[in-house]
Amino acid sequence: MIKRPRRLRSNENLRKMVRETRVDKSALIYPIFVKDGTGICEEIPSMEGQYRYSVDRLSFALEDIVESGVSSVMFFGIPEHKDEKASQAYAKDGIIQRALREAKKSFPKLYCITDVCLCEYTSHGHCGMLCGREVDNDSTLEVLAKTALSHVQAGADMVAPSDMMDGRVAAIRQILDKNQFTNTPIMSYAVKYASGFYAPFRDAADSAPAFGNRKSYQMDYHNSREGIKEVLLDEEEGADIVMVKPALAYLDMIVKVKEATHLPVAAYSVSGEYAMIKAAAAKGWIDEKSIVCETAVAAFRAGIQSYLTYYAKELAGYMDEGLIG
Ligand code: PBG
Repeated sequence: MIKRPRRLRSNENLRKMVRETRVDKSALIYPIFVKDGTGICEEIPSMEGQYRYSVDRLSFALEDIVESGVSSVMFFGIPEHKDEKASQAYAKDGIIQRALREAKKSFPKLYCITDVCLCEYTSHGHCGMLCGREVDNDSTLEVLAKTALSHVQAGADMVAPSDMMDGRVAAIRQILDKNQFTNTPIMSYAVKYASGFYAPFRDAADSAPAFGNRKSYQMDYHNSREGIKEVLLDEEEGADIVMVKPALAYLDMIVKVKEATHLPVAAYSVSGEYAMIKAAAAKGWIDEKSIVCETAVAAFRAGIQSYLTYYAKELAGYMDEGLIG
């Protein structure tokens, strides 16, 4: 036998030398939930190990994140009051706006991204303004743009619209530019599927739609060419980074998006992916560490540059241990 693939697997140094995919802490983004109120640090039942924090408790959580070596976070807000107009989404003293000011004051180097969406702020739990029982695209754009601007004014380094309205990236780019924020990047949730994997998140954020579902705005998971259409549109509208979401069940889309655009590609390993691993590990049916490493590397192998995950801190630790790298 002349060709023996096993030759390159015979030694740890050698295996690492010929490794095709290398991962680094700087690619990790940790999603974190902030909630109106004080003294709150409550565990999310369907996302064991993840918490909702009030602004006065946020610093402790951020310290932990920074210490693990993760340098970017994505904020999600849970307001006390929800209404039809999502007015707390763009309020000057809204939950995200206050969290940003606190984060930037205590951890000026931490890179703060915000999720821009309305479902956590609307009384009906949909991601936009309603017209009857329909989510109205064009009147939502104005509210999204206002929300994004208020995040940036409060200190956000980057905004990430996740609502899936048509034209939102252009609307946000326009308002940011008009207000001299020409250098603030937009990471669009470009390829976002209507997915059962978001269920634990909706628990966490209390953002499940009161009626119907999100299929009139989020994508049908039977489609992949449509995802490329979304990416190309967002790129044209001025997106700086495009995201695929969820991650694990959509690795094919990461590969395709990478081929279709020159923008950096991110993937979001969502709440349901986290919950599945946690639950199976708690039963002793799988080894948490090895599954977390394997699923993360799979997304990087498929082609992403950045990875949003509730396991960011743990992954940073596994990198320190040399389990992946
Ligand atoms: C807001 C939003 C959702 C997620 C990120 N941004 C929920 C949804 O679309 O219903 C899901 C994240 C996760 O499941 O971890 N629209």
